[in-house]
Amino acid sequence: MSEVTILKIGGSVLTDKREEGKLNQDRITKIAKEIASSDVQNLILIHGAGSFGHPIAKKFGLDASGKQNYAGAALTHEMVKELNKIIVKELVEDGVAAMPVHPMSCAISSKGRLKEIMTAQIELMTDNDVVPVIHGDVVMDLEWGTSILSGDQIVLHLAQRLKAKRVGVGTDVDGVIDGEGRIIASITPKTFSNIKPLLTTPKSVDVTGEMSGKVSELVRLAKAGIQSYVFNASKKGNITAFLRGNIDFGTVIRSD
Ligand SMILES: Nc1ncnc2c1ncn2[C@@H]1O[C@H](COP(=O)(O)OP(=O)(O)OP(=O)(O)O)[C@@H](O)[C@H]1O
Ligand SMILES: [Mg+2]
Repeated sequence: MSEVTILKIGGSVLTDKREEGKLNQDRITKIAKEIASSDVQNLILIHGAGSFGHPIAKKFGLDASGKQNYAGAALTHEMVKELNKIIVKELVEDGVAAMPVHPMSCAISSKGRLKEIMTAQIELMTDNDVVPVIHGDVVMDLEWGTSILSGDQIVLHLAQRLKAKRVGVGTDVDGVIDGEGRIIASITPKTFSNIKPLLTTPKSVDVTGEMSGKVSELVRLAKAGIQSYVFNASKKGNITAFLRGNIDFGTVIRSD
């Protein structure tokens, strides 16, 4: 298979995270158009759960290990699937051959870490100019029954497995912000230990660690020799620039 580009779009961009089940339709429309008009080949899209996942997962206690609520897990899965359906439909209407991929049906975790995800269908899709649209989800877990699988963790796994040539994680802020409100231009596994304490938000609705969880996954990816960018996907033109390899903004997470 040819080298893939992986783009994750945060649920913070596609939805209003403060209100359960609230879309940010305007952004979805604009982003779908940017993707449709970029002529990028072998693209894998991943999206976060936003308000279609985090609040409901929290309500059912799915963020904590050891507490099982299969009915709650099923409802959470249905809701993120709903968001996925809306995004796929929007892309298809704009002429992108987008196809849904639901981790609940093709992935297994252990203690919240992704162990296996079937990629044969994803590779066939990209080989055939189809864009797989994968999402953060609830998955079956060997130790915990079910667990939450973040879109950020899917980025890590697929980028390594498919040896991605370009990895971008779009969110609702301009990059990783330091203690003085400035964007940190680059993070390496070495510098991350000093930066990690800055990445917290009290009373966050996010069940996968917000910016801290995201950068932790990307530092793992950097250790495997693959660099990635965290950038603002809600600003017009940023996704196009990333997809075309013209990114000179946001935070780069690199091996050294
Ligand atoms: N130091 C920091 N720099 C940047 N963002 C930070 C920092 N600390 C906390 N955050 C928070 O992290 C948020 C981004 O993470 P969040 O998980 O909410 O978005 P997402 O991953 O795009 O959404 P989803 O998890 O639904 O896909 C920002 O909106 C910001 O509030
Ligand atoms: Mg997140």
